[in-house]
Amino acid sequence: MSLENKTALITGAAVGIGRACAILFAEDGANLILVDMNGEKLESLKEELKKYPMRVLTYTGDVSDYARVSQIVEDGAKKLGGVDILVNNAGIWRSWHDFLEIPVEEWKKFIDVNLMGTVYFTRAALPYMLEKGWGRVINVSSVAAVYGNIRMAHYSASKGAINSLTLALAKEVTAKGVTVNSVCPGSVSPSENDDIDLMISVYGTAGRNGDVVINMEEEIKKMPCPVGLQNKKDAYGANLCTRRLGNLLPARSVLFVDPQEPVSVGDIAVYYSNEMEAKIISVRENEQGQLYGVRWNPDEKILLENDDMPRLHRVVSINL
Ligand SMILES: NC(=O)c1ccc[n+]([C@@H]2O[C@H](COP(=O)([O-])OP(=O)(O)OC[C@H]3O[C@@H](n4cnc5c(N)ncnc54)[C@H](O)[C@@H]3O)[C@@H](O)[C@H]2O)c1
Repeated sequence: MSLENKTALITGAAVGIGRACAILFAEDGANLILVDMNGEKLESLKEELKKYPMRVLTYTGDVSDYARVSQIVEDGAKKLGGVDILVNNAGIWRSWHDFLEIPVEEWKKFIDVNLMGTVYFTRAALPYMLEKGWGRVINVSSVAAVYGNIRMAHYSASKGAINSLTLALAKEVTAKGVTVNSVCPGSVSPSENDDIDLMISVYGTAGRNGDVVINMEEEIKKMPCPVGLQNKKDAYGANLCTRRLGNLLPARSVLFVDPQEPVSVGDIAVYYSNEMEAKIISVRENEQGQLYGVRWNPDEKILLENDDMPRLHRVVSINL
C-alpha cells in the first residue's frame, strides 16, 4: 500500500512495536512524525530511516503532558502538511501486582500515560484529519483490555478504556472520513530496552530415592516465565526429574513454583525434606483435619505439621 503524501504520527516510536510501525510506514512512503521520551533511541531510529526518501521529524516528549503534545502536533503538522494517520502506541505495561498492592500513584500513571496520552494526541491531531475529510486513528490497546491480565488490573483497565474511547469516537467521526480503530496485540517479543526478565530460572537434578535436588546456586536452564509469575522474585521452575505423581506427569515436566503462595488441600507442592532435597507431593487432608502429603513411586505418606508449612512451596503451573 502506498502512503506517499501521507503523514503518520507515531507515539512511543523509539523501540518495540512503535519502532516496527515506523519502519513499515517508511517502507510505504509516509512522512513521519516520531515521538518518544527516549531521545537517544529516537535519534538512532532517525539515522536508520535515512535510507528512505520521505521526511522524518522526531520529538522528545511525554505523551501525558498535554501542553507538550499540542506543541508537537502543531509543529509537525505545520512542517509536513497536517497529520493523516495517528498511531497511539506509547504505553507502559511492565508492572505486576496483586490488586490490593497496586499503589494509587501507579494507577494514576497508567491512566495518564496509556489513556490520557491517547486522548491528548487524538485531541490535538483530529482537527487536521477532519479538515481534510480523511484520517486514520489507530490505538494500540491489548488483549488485556478484552480478557484482563492477571496481576495487571491497572494496565488492563487503562487499555479497556482505550477500547471504549475507540468505539465512541469512531461513531462520532467515521461519517466524516476519519476511521478510529484499536489493535489488541497478545504477547509481543520484548524489545531491546526491556528491563525485566521475562524468563524464569529452572533448578533440579535427580536425587536419591526419587527426590529432587534443588540447588538455587546451580541454575539448569531458563524458560519463558508463566504470566502471573513475572516479577515475582522468589518464583522458580523445578525439574520433575523422575516419574513422580504416579506417572501422571512426564518425567521432563517443569513445575513452576511460587513460595509466597499459601499451600492448601488439593495443591501440588514441593516439600523440602532438608535445605536442598525435595519431594513432589499432593497435599491431602484426613478425617481429623490433619494435612498430609502423598508421593508415589516410591509411595509415601508424609504427615504435615504446622511447622512444616514453610518447607512447602506451592506449584502454580506445570510445563509438560
Ligand atoms: N509487547 C507486548 O507484548 C504488548 C502486548 C499488547 C500491547 N502492547 C502495547 O503496545 C505498545 C507498545 O508496546 P512495546 O512492547 O513496544 O513497549 P516498549 O516498552 O518496548 O516501548 C514503548 C515505547 O513507548 C515509550 N514511552 C513510554 N511511556 C511514554 C511516555 N509517557 N511518553 C512518551 N513515550 C513513552 C517508551 O520510551 C518506549 O520507547 C504499548 O502501548 C503496549 O501496552 C504491547
